[in-house]
Amino acid sequence: MKTLLTHIEALLKDSSNAIEKSDSLEQLEQVRVQFLGRKGKVADLMPLLSALSLEDKRTAGPAMNECKTVIEKLFDSKKQRLIDTTLAAKEAASKYFDVTAYTARPHEGSLHPYTHVTKIITDFFTQLGFQVADGPEVETEFYNFEALNIPADHPARDMQDTFWLKIPGLLMRTQTSNVQIHSMKKNTPPIAVISTGRVYRNEATDASHDCQFQQLEGMFIDKNVSLSNLIATMKLFLQTLLDDKNVKIRIRPGFFPFVEPGIEIDASCPFCTAGCSTCKHTRWIEMVGAGLIHPNVLKAGGINPEKYRGFAFGFGLTRLVMLKYGISDIRLLHSPTVEFLKQF
Ligand code: DAH
Repeated sequence: MKTLLTHIEALLKDSSNAIEKSDSLEQLEQVRVQFLGRKGKVADLMPLLSALSLEDKRTAGPAMNECKTVIEKLFDSKKQRLIDTTLAAKEAASKYFDVTAYTARPHEGSLHPYTHVTKIITDFFTQLGFQVADGPEVETEFYNFEALNIPADHPARDMQDTFWLKIPGLLMRTQTSNVQIHSMKKNTPPIAVISTGRVYRNEATDASHDCQFQQLEGMFIDKNVSLSNLIATMKLFLQTLLDDKNVKIRIRPGFFPFVEPGIEIDASCPFCTAGCSTCKHTRWIEMVGAGLIHPNVLKAGGINPEKYRGFAFGFGLTRLVMLKYGISDIRLLHSPTVEFLKQF
């Protein structure tokens, strides 16, 4: 009898410890089987109980039952606590998130090479007091040609194969020089503007030609504007753009109907010292078309050529972007290929 009671006491202690230590429902179930199962530790005591005298059974029997009930209660309460904490953890996980947890980095965009170069250009000219102007891409014959001293029968029209619209007199602009006339009509001198944008030419596409590309146009009109103002501005500009203070410039005569005299400006090649494929082994790179604005153009823009003079310049922004970043195919520059664009 004494032995049985000692066993019951030990069983209560052991089961209570084991139940308390269980930290998952699976583990708790194993403990339950271990103590309350058909072949468990409680069942193991039954032979000891049956071996007792009737009188002893009267005390030991209820003690056994009590022991079983206590273990069951401990088990039930632990089970409930484990369920509660699992639910609480699930709920917390859905409400809060770990800000330090790893997540895949989203793909970051980058600026297009055109945007980079346009920013360098506009920063430079706005510091000199130029304003940024804009002009229409669908243009009239007047702004794209006539006002720029290119009448209908002028051979210069053939130099720029034009996309004509079905509406007579309308075209896709072939040059950003149309902005010159719009700016003259909108403002009174002194006028200092630059403009970048798309132009269109009816040309076959290959690595260096596209039917659509970008140009930069600039113009300054005031009372005493001279060719040396133009040359000084262009020299500083090209040095800034090519990011090299040692860049030299070379002036050649050039023909453009809207300027007189007309010049072409070359920059010394910033990429080599003894000739390379970019400068076609000449050490010079053709950069800008420019000159003093033709009196006919000033007149067309409503400005008195007796009172005012101006300089104008223009160049292919597309070509420049390709030069600056060593892009060998214009089709890449104008494509949405992410692998290519990611590099900038
Ligand atoms: N519009 C010319 C072209 O498309 C470039 C140009 C040359 C613009 C001389 C000018 C200039 O303003 O003065 O080829």
